[in-house]
Amino acid sequence: MNLCNIFSFLGKKSKIFFETLQVILWQPVVVENIRKDREVHFYVRASSINSCALSLFFSVTMEDVQGHIEKQTTNDTVNPRSSSSYYENYHSMKEIYHWMEEVVRVHSDLLRKIYIGSSYEKRPLYVLKVQLQEIPKSAIWIDCGIHAREWISPAFCLWFIGHNRLWRKSRSSHGNSKCIGTDMNRNFDAHWCGKGASPYECQETYCGPYPESEPEVKAVARFVRDHKDIIKAYITMHSYSQLVLFPYSYTMDKSKDHDELESLAKKAATAIKRTTKKTYTPGAGAQTIYLAPGGSDDWAYDLGIKYSFTIELRDTGTYGFLLPPREIKPTCLEALSAVKEIAQHVLQNL
Ligand code: ARG
Ligand code: ZN
Repeated sequence: MNLCNIFSFLGKKSKIFFETLQVILWQPVVVENIRKDREVHFYVRASSINSCALSLFFSVTMEDVQGHIEKQTTNDTVNPRSSSSYYENYHSMKEIYHWMEEVVRVHSDLLRKIYIGSSYEKRPLYVLKVQLQEIPKSAIWIDCGIHAREWISPAFCLWFIGHNRLWRKSRSSHGNSKCIGTDMNRNFDAHWCGKGASPYECQETYCGPYPESEPEVKAVARFVRDHKDIIKAYITMHSYSQLVLFPYSYTMDKSKDHDELESLAKKAATAIKRTTKKTYTPGAGAQTIYLAPGGSDDWAYDLGIKYSFTIELRDTGTYGFLLPPREIKPTCLEALSAVKEIAQHVLQNL
């Protein structure tokens, strides 16, 4: 798989391009946010690269996305089973029992392990139940490995349960949609589901059925609301793009504290530069990236928490969401220097 990078955008053509090819947008998050003269990052099968070249000027920024995913997971002792090479090998029975335990532990929201009896040799027999809703209506049974020498069969069962490293949304299901998840940064009560969010369950920026429909959003909103008088700054960390954003994201209009927030965001970016020499761009959300209503930063700001920021951490697209572990430490150090700058300003303005 490849990560392509389009530098120039050819209007209507690209909409067709993105919809007909099996591409996964990394940046921006939806087709509607593609802008003239801005980079577009998307992930596409290596075999589709020629059709990329047909209609658009592009360059491949990452040759082997899959390889990067694997490098970050194969030697991971905590969760060795999320790499796809794991699923492209055969495993011993003992190993498969271990995998079952691990996968059910990591994905306890949708997987259950049910003991259904034991083998002639007294080994436990388990069913792995994939359950999306609370009350299951109907099911499909799949078994693998009835014949011992047919190893490809259990390999399929393991592979079938495998995960998606590039998942964005929550894990909820609403209505009878086949699609899972709400964009939690579109689910806050700040111009909820306006332009820049989607009312469709299958979209990456689905705003949910109503504000705070997601238990995770509701819990954060309630806690922050309950303590709004003592919380002087709200900082939410995202990736990637290297930005220091402040309200608003739900409108192109400037907030009433625009000038102060802008100068503070600039100071934060300067502190980062001093720390690791990395460039972070300061700016109001909607003006800097795109309209995105229902975000936690705008919500916190309108609640009365003036110093509200979204920090988009590393990088700018070389690895994107697959930032290598060696960049964790420097990224944290630079983020800390930005947080310190904000904290200092808050202290001086109490
Ligand atoms: N990448 C973030 C998103 O699209 C940017 C958040 C900026 N703030 C906001 N309220 N949308 O969710
Ligand atoms: Zn984000």
